[in-house]
Order: sequence, then structure tokens, then C-alpha cells
Amino acid sequence: MNIAVFASGGGSNFQSLLDKQMSGELKVSVTLFLTNNSKCGAVAKAQQGNIPVIHMSAKTHPIESELAATMLQSLREAKVDMIVLAGYMKKLPDIVLAQFAHKVLNIHPALLPSFGGQGMYGMHVHEAVYAYGAKQSGITVHMVDPEYDTGPVVLQKAVDISSCKNPAEIQQAVLALEHKFYWQVVQAFSEGRVLQVDRQINLQGL
Ligand code: GRF
Repeated sequence: MNIAVFASGGGSNFQSLLDKQMSGELKVSVTLFLTNNSKCGAVAKAQQGNIPVIHMSAKTHPIESELAATMLQSLREAKVDMIVLAGYMKKLPDIVLAQFAHKVLNIHPALLPSFGGQGMYGMHVHEAVYAYGAKQSGITVHMVDPEYDTGPVVLQKAVDISSCKNPAEIQQAVLALEHKFYWQVVQAFSEGRVLQVDRQINLQGL
């Protein structure tokens, strides 16, 4: 299975996918890396891994429909079967979502539907979780639909954060879960171990 990874930030999740691929545990090819932020840390990680990088933003493509068409074309040329979002800060164009229906994954650093939606990204999520006084947080891996953080849930894992003293400690605890599980979901997809009926997704073996 060929995957494209989209990211806008530091890329620790992207790196963990690459590491698992290198170790042979994740048996997919990363044929494309796409970002809207050419200066983000994830770009360097793609370059180190010899993965083709595409930078696409409102600056490179001011006309939205052209950005969407170019993105789709790039995905086709790289023979991408599945898109894996790893901290990608933009919504995907409708034509890309339509073409990759049930084939776009995202990871959110909290237990949706709590602490999700527009503006809930990165440290904002962990700050909100901390401010609320939650005793648990976790990860949600979900299929992507046109809205923020509302697609069907593929996997959730919780972590006890009752001893975390600040949002940064929550982030560390959650990131450890992200790196432990995201690649396993991608691998499960590549092996056909993910069955979806309407919103219900059955993930076998995890
Ligand atoms: C992660 O917390 C992920 O859950 C969210 O964006 C963050 C990306 O972090 N979607 P990194 O760039 O992979 O370190």
C-alpha cells in the first residue's frame, strides 16, 4: 500500500511512521509528503527519508480549485492509496476527500468528541484538557470528513493524566500514545483489518 503523509508541524508522528517503516514493522511505502508549511520540521524529516516533498499553500496556489486539482494530480502520480494526516493544519479539498473516501486518517491528541473542533490543535488541546481538570486524556484516530474532528472513530486509547502538573506533561503522555498506536492503525488498514459499516468501524487486532 502506498501512503501520503500530510503534516504542518514538527513531524514527530511522521518520524515515528518512518521509523516503523525502516524497522520493517510498518509495511507500506510513503510515496509522498505534503505540507502547507515549507519551513516545518517535518519537511527535513521527509528529505532525510528521501521522500518526495510537495509544498502547497494559498501562497503557492492562490486559487483554491487549482490547489485542489494539483493536490489530486500529485496523489495520483504518486499512486497513493491512503492519506495519513499527521498534524496537518488545513482542511482537505472536497474533491480530494471524495476521491479518497474512507481512505484519509487523522490523529487527534484528545478523546473526541471532547476537546475537538476548530481551534483545538496542538498545545491548545492540552491546555484545555488541563484547565478542565480532566483526569484522563488520550488519542483518537479517526476517518476524515469535511468537518474538523467529526469523522468516524477508528481507535481511541486513554492515558491517566491525574499526576500531570501542566499541559506540557499531558502532551508528552499523549504523544507517547500517538507514537505507539498510529502506525499500528495504518498497518491494520494495509492488511484489510479495518471494517466500516456506516459510522461503526471495527478494527481487528488492536
Ligand atoms: C499531534 O499531537 C497530533 O495528534 C495532532 O498534531 C500533532 C502533531 O505533532 N494532529 P507532531 O508534529 O507529529 O509532533
